[in-house]
Amino acid sequence: MTTASLLAADLVLAILAAVGWLGGGAAAAARRRPLALGLAAVALLATLARATTVVALARVGWWFVAEKVVIAAPLSLAAVAVAGPRLLRAADDIRTVAVPLLFSGYAVSGALLVTVLHGYPVSASAGLLVVAGVVTATAVSWRLIDARPSRTVSRAAVAVAVAALLAGTGLAVAPGAAPAAPHDHAYPQARIPDEPTRRFTLTAGTTTVSVGGHDVAAWAFDAQVPGPELTATVGDVLEVTLRNRDIGRGVTLHWHGYDVPNDQDGVPGVTQSAVLPGQEFVYRFRADQAGTYWYHTHSVSDVGVRMGLYGVLVVRPGPTNGLDVSVPVHTLAGRPLPDAKVEQVAAGVPVRLRLINTDSTTHRYALAGTAFQVAAIDGYELSGATSLRDTAVLIPAGGRYDLVFTAADTPVALDVDGRRVYSTGVVSTETGGWPVLDPLTYGQPAAVPWSRFDRTFTLVLDRGLDLRGLLPRYAHTVNGAAAPDIPPQVVRRGDVVRFTIVNRSQAVHPWHLHGHHVLVLSRDRRPAAGSPLWLDSFDVRPGEVWEVAFRADNPGMWANHCHNLGHADAGMMLHLLYS
Ligand code: C2O
Ligand code: CU
Repeated sequence: MTTASLLAADLVLAILAAVGWLGGGAAAAARRRPLALGLAAVALLATLARATTVVALARVGWWFVAEKVVIAAPLSLAAVAVAGPRLLRAADDIRTVAVPLLFSGYAVSGALLVTVLHGYPVSASAGLLVVAGVVTATAVSWRLIDARPSRTVSRAAVAVAVAALLAGTGLAVAPGAAPAAPHDHAYPQARIPDEPTRRFTLTAGTTTVSVGGHDVAAWAFDAQVPGPELTATVGDVLEVTLRNRDIGRGVTLHWHGYDVPNDQDGVPGVTQSAVLPGQEFVYRFRADQAGTYWYHTHSVSDVGVRMGLYGVLVVRPGPTNGLDVSVPVHTLAGRPLPDAKVEQVAAGVPVRLRLINTDSTTHRYALAGTAFQVAAIDGYELSGATSLRDTAVLIPAGGRYDLVFTAADTPVALDVDGRRVYSTGVVSTETGGWPVLDPLTYGQPAAVPWSRFDRTFTLVLDRGLDLRGLLPRYAHTVNGAAAPDIPPQVVRRGDVVRFTIVNRSQAVHPWHLHGHHVLVLSRDRRPAAGSPLWLDSFDVRPGEVWEVAFRADNPGMWANHCHNLGHADAGMMLHLLYS
């Protein structure tokens, strides 16, 4: 079983146990003997089965089971210890086991709430709050059903509940370990490099664009979605003037995957302030890295990018021959972009398809009618790229793959999620059933350039209740916290930094660190075995554990977040910091 299915199975078993105990208790209170015994049996079996899922998950990693071992296991054992013997002795009056069964139900449900609302890491306050809840609920049930607890027992119950509640809330509101990213800092000073050799102006504004023959409202650069394609050659100095005509919530330009100096990174509140209507900002950076990139607003980025504020950035190593096509895929108002394109290509022409995923979820790309190579991922060339055929690739949100082939006499076609977006003629191949390339096993491996890591950080991705803001929200969390309360990762310049990224949740999290490409070391403990993969965007799927590393060689304050921008907006964003 995969870790994701173990997590799902364990959740289902926990729900079954809770429902079994609670339902059994209610049935017993109503003197429905067979029903009560049946439901209690379900609860016992589910609890037994959970022992196997929890042990299996523990073998994958402590991150997946911490609260299950520390909180759920003792409470489940207490449930079995309290309810089990009484069930065996429930000879005449089934009603006598109602309270013990309900106690078990409260205990197991409380532990379940910790998993669903709090997740990782396990905390004493969560445990104490659950104990308070279980004691209170049991005392109330006891009064209602048996009307029997003696004064002393009730008082003791109240005392335990109050003490646990106080301790739990006390711990919950105690000042956190580390402050949030310092947002009230001076923005980095714009450095002025050499004279620009490529100048562009992009004007952001609201507009209406046509997608597949439908008019849709958009936010766009130069009134087009995607914005103009910016191209440069290695060695160029780019100067891009951003103007905002009427985007009320502000705009910026973030050069996704381009490791620019921090002051050019375009993150409002971190490297600059948002450019408001009527204002402008000039970006300038040297293009020293060839490859396929893209730019997008980072101001209210979830809405801004979705509405159309993005475009392609291509940096070529020099003059190129052949055909070079960018395919930036996006979903605008529920409709897919780009419109399908058909063009003639003469046999013998080398073709490079630059596939770009500008959405917040993964897309599947399939190139039919030709053998091809994956020449580059996230702008970095792969070594030893071998020829592939009838193989699909999955590109994470924000990611780019460059596919290359030489045109033959027969046509080729590119499908994205089964929709044809590009072709050089009629191709009737069905691409839906093709296997998917695993980039971790593609190409020629090389040794990892570092033998030791100066800093290691673990990022456990999950969901949890965030009560720190104005309104409570069910946030996407990192190590149990949501932005802006996730402690920044502070390193020193020159450090070799390793991230372990663990996905405990049921959603895919496309991880994106600004300002650096990270080298993939391993996924699920299996070392990367293909060409070195220097990525800026990679999908951490449910249950996966990725290890990546980079050298801290581009000082500043860098956003480090999930590129499902809705998740980033809902808390999944932190910062890497060094000077
Ligand atoms: Cu493409 Cu912080 O983003
Ligand atoms: Cu995410």
